[in-house]
Amino acid sequence: MKIFLDTATLEDIKEAVSWGIIDGVTTNPSLIKKAVVSLRDSPKEMDMESYIKNILAIVGRMCPVSLEVAGLGADEMVAQGTLIYEKFNQVAGNVVIKIPVCTKNTRGEGTTFDGIMAIKQLYEERIPTNATLVFTPEQALLAAKAGAHYVSPFAGRVDDRIRKSAGMQFEKSDYFPDYGIADASSPDTALKDHGLVSGVDLVAQIVEIFMQYEVESEVIAASIRNPVQVREVALAGAHIVTLPFGVLNSMVQHPGTADGIDTFTHDLVDEYLEVFTKKEDESM
Ligand code: E4P
Repeated sequence: MKIFLDTATLEDIKEAVSWGIIDGVTTNPSLIKKAVVSLRDSPKEMDMESYIKNILAIVGRMCPVSLEVAGLGADEMVAQGTLIYEKFNQVAGNVVIKIPVCTKNTRGEGTTFDGIMAIKQLYEERIPTNATLVFTPEQALLAAKAGAHYVSPFAGRVDDRIRKSAGMQFEKSDYFPDYGIADASSPDTALKDHGLVSGVDLVAQIVEIFMQYEVESEVIAASIRNPVQVREVALAGAHIVTLPFGVLNSMVQHPGTADGIDTFTHDLVDEYLEVFTKKEDESM
């Protein structure tokens, strides 16, 4: 499974890339806003185009970086996608255009198929897309059918929707089991959002359908909130997981590992340490 970093924060990208295990980056308007606001009035402040170019150069060739369009209509999204692809892809050849799978908003404004039409047109222009804000396997199927290179199911936000509809209090990073949580009024049944018991269930169903029909689009498990969810989407067969810096950082840590480091460090004897000393005749 490939690991993408889900951030637009340059410092985090630099650090994670230096660890040598990053295969790409995904950004969205909220992540860009967070990054820009944190740099405002600081010595590191720079214009947005330079900022994006920096991200692309640091992440490097062969490691895709998703940049999201701002418009909601198909023509506007295609024009914006084409423009930013032409403007930025020359930096490192790694730009992917992120398109919302459906741009109709909560007030019912907007149109339903503009995202799909934009994906299709960009596919015909050979511009790779990442269909974002995917909440059902059906949306993923439509995006794949239109030629999306990637589809991004928002696992954590499915869990949020289930907990919110049940009136539960929770922190964003709280674990939500892949098998769901019981409905208090019918304990043998799991609470569902559009027939899904969890965000991991969404990822698993998309992976299963894509395998069944040999769909080539890759599944990016997105909106990931904790390391156990990473394990679960990996078990579900996601091709890629995109992770906030904090989740990636905590994935490598374990109290047992820290205990072991304490013990091993304490037990280092001089005889063993001598093994690491270069003798003069070895340097020749
Ligand atoms: C990734 O591409 C998404 O934009 C991101 O994972 C959303 O995560 P969130 O639900 O934690 O905001």
